[in-house]
Amino acid sequence: MVDVQSSTLTLGLVGTGVMGRGIAQLAAQAGITVRLFDARPQAADEARASIASMLDSLAAKGRLSPEAALAATARLEPVPQELSLAGCHVVVEAIVEDLRVKQELFTRLEGIVGPDCLLATNTSSLSVTAIASACERPGRVGGFHFFNPVPLMKVVEVIEGARTEPWVGEALVTLALRLGHRPVRAADTPGFIVNHAGRGFGTEALRILQEGVASFADIDRVLREAAGFRMGPFELLDLTGLDVSHPVMESVYEQFYQEPRFRPSYVLRQRLTAGLLGRKSGQGFYSHEGGKPHVEPEPTIPSGERRPVWVAADEPGWRDALLSLVRAAGWFPDDGERPAPESLCLVAPLGRDATTTALALEVDPERTVAVDLLFGPERRRTVMTTPVTRQPFLDSALALLAADGTAVSRIHDSTGFVAQRVLATLVNIACDIAQQRIASPEDIDAAVTLGLGYPRGPLAWGDALGPRRLLRVLEAIHSASGDPRYRASPWLSRRARLGVSLLTPEK
Ligand code: NAI
Repeated sequence: MVDVQSSTLTLGLVGTGVMGRGIAQLAAQAGITVRLFDARPQAADEARASIASMLDSLAAKGRLSPEAALAATARLEPVPQELSLAGCHVVVEAIVEDLRVKQELFTRLEGIVGPDCLLATNTSSLSVTAIASACERPGRVGGFHFFNPVPLMKVVEVIEGARTEPWVGEALVTLALRLGHRPVRAADTPGFIVNHAGRGFGTEALRILQEGVASFADIDRVLREAAGFRMGPFELLDLTGLDVSHPVMESVYEQFYQEPRFRPSYVLRQRLTAGLLGRKSGQGFYSHEGGKPHVEPEPTIPSGERRPVWVAADEPGWRDALLSLVRAAGWFPDDGERPAPESLCLVAPLGRDATTTALALEVDPERTVAVDLLFGPERRRTVMTTPVTRQPFLDSALALLAADGTAVSRIHDSTGFVAQRVLATLVNIACDIAQQRIASPEDIDAAVTLGLGYPRGPLAWGDALGPRRLLRVLEAIHSASGDPRYRASPWLSRRARLGVSLLTPEK
């Protein structure tokens, strides 16, 4: 058992590329001696110089004392050969993502390090169990998965393979805390927590695009400005590069034996084939100049004719919210039991498309416009039409909803608009991660907020939006599409029906 709190802890770091440098910097700053080794001659020296200049610039900005920067740099020891890792208490590898190469490294290391040395892998997509399986003592191998850039992404997944001994997970958790990171524990499953939980955002957005519901720019705008994501899914795909994102999507899908929830999109495959990789190739979904995506201006809102507005909503409180909007704009509500012949029928459905809503309410689909209120009426509003909504009624609805200066996106008919679909999908996937006991509810939320930068953890977010509402959205899409990707996780379904938090663990 390694004492990772020890002041004399020595950590071996193999592979001094992007990730290795970040991990080495953290460790050196935490008072740990780090031996740096890389297969490419000079790479470890270059890494030391690069970390030293990083520490210097932190000191120049006042984030670190000059003495601390010097002391941390002094703890970085480039070594010329693997043999020099003998005597390390922990070795972390951040070499090329190749199962065979990682297995070979660990079997060689077993012959070099002492019997108590912990071997950790920073793999993001390989099985820790598979890497450990080549070792004589697989029990000492664990996953220690950081995110890029390591010093800023303050979370690390601690993964136990099928034969990892309990002390390894404990030691890695303690080490993570010493490095100033939040450890989250994940079972050895494809994508662990973050790359598993992150699947819903892009795949559902692609699905919405593929169905012709909205343009990629509108999907981005809605998810940023209504749901509150820092970046839309298509901006993110362009930033990451389709050559990176699409293979990850395919790999997680295949590793889960073609789980429909993770089904990738032909749209992405085709764009990847065409070389539309994103920022790095100058053209992705957006065209990029000087590293910035070029966004076409939104269409201007037409000056629609004022007319009486008949309102209906699927959730308590939503009808009043619509009536307030109508009155605040100085328009007149149509209070009749049934809409008058020239009234606009403004509806706020939950988990229904505009067509189904109009037919269920027995109102004229030619005068029906639906608006999404799941994220409240104050943020960017999304409106959708039935296939037969007449233009003057759409124009009136757009003018009404934009009257107070709030941005409005217009989409085509879709069960669950854009944001309802994406949120229901990602909350459902997070629920299923909990259901499969891959991680605890708290760790899922911490991993996603810190690792993906979402405004909230998916389970807490699901609670805020209402588990029952999200279940209704999923059930409606599932029944309308027949696609099993929308089947609700039992974790969500049970908690929604019981009226309890999605963070409620199984006793
Ligand atoms: P990188 O290409 O920047 O660095 C890899 C380094 O390993 C290179 O310096 C290379 O010379 C060295 N190397 C390759 N084979 C070696 C061997 N057999 N022995 C010693 N050194 C060897 O790669 P990066 O991005 O730092 O990734 C490293 C690992 O971290 C991979 O497993 C990757 O999946 C994982 N990872 C990467 C993330 C990222 O965003 N780049 C995020 C999380 C994990």
